[in-house]
Amino acid sequence: MVSCLVFLVAACQAPITNSLLNHFTEHVINNLNNSSTLEAHCKSKDDDLGLRRLAAGTEFNWTFRVNFWSTTLFFCDLRWANGHKAFDVYCPDDQFLAKKCAYNFCRWSARDDGIYAFSEKKNHYVLAHKWDPK
Ligand SMILES: *[C@@H]1O[C@H](CO)[C@@H](O)[C@H](O)[C@H]1NC(C)=O
Ligand SMILES: *[C@@H]1O[C@H](CO)[C@@H](O)[C@H](O)[C@H]1NC(C)=O
Ligand SMILES: *[C@@H]1O[C@H](CO)[C@@H](O)[C@H](O)[C@H]1NC(C)=O
Repeated sequence: MVSCLVFLVAACQAPITNSLLNHFTEHVINNLNNSSTLEAHCKSKDDDLGLRRLAAGTEFNWTFRVNFWSTTLFFCDLRWANGHKAFDVYCPDDQFLAKKCAYNFCRWSARDDGIYAFSEKKNHYVLAHKWDPK
């Protein structure tokens, strides 16, 4: 777990060119079937957003300011009855943002078969992570 997050952080160190970004919103959405509850624990280096329990069909969102040097990094640990996953939800990297986010938001949709990200490039949700078994 710890080594995994260290790896994710390391994989995220890349220069950013879209410094026009200012406010950025993250959405974590429970789109699991069968009324499954989703637990989300999201953090950055400086902020711990606490453990959130999301009922089916609800979301948790937060907005933050992207600093000029863009060292902001957020990651979440999501878990439900059939799996869990820890992954970066905001990474100041153009490729990450183009593939997994839109111009000023990321939408992470937890579904039975994995976690989907809304890709601005594709204009629809794409499977970003499969669940690790519990
Ligand atoms: C959710 O319910 C459907 C229909 O009853 C079932 O096929 C499916 O296996 C259930 N999924 C989970 C994760 O329990
Ligand atoms: C953020 O989440 C709340 C529920 O927690 C919801 O009412 C609100 O519409 C969401 N905001 C956006 C911009 O989606
Ligand atoms: C449950 O979720 C999966 C993956 O999101 C979806 O393909 C399926 O149609 C959903 N419905 C049921 C009843 O399992």
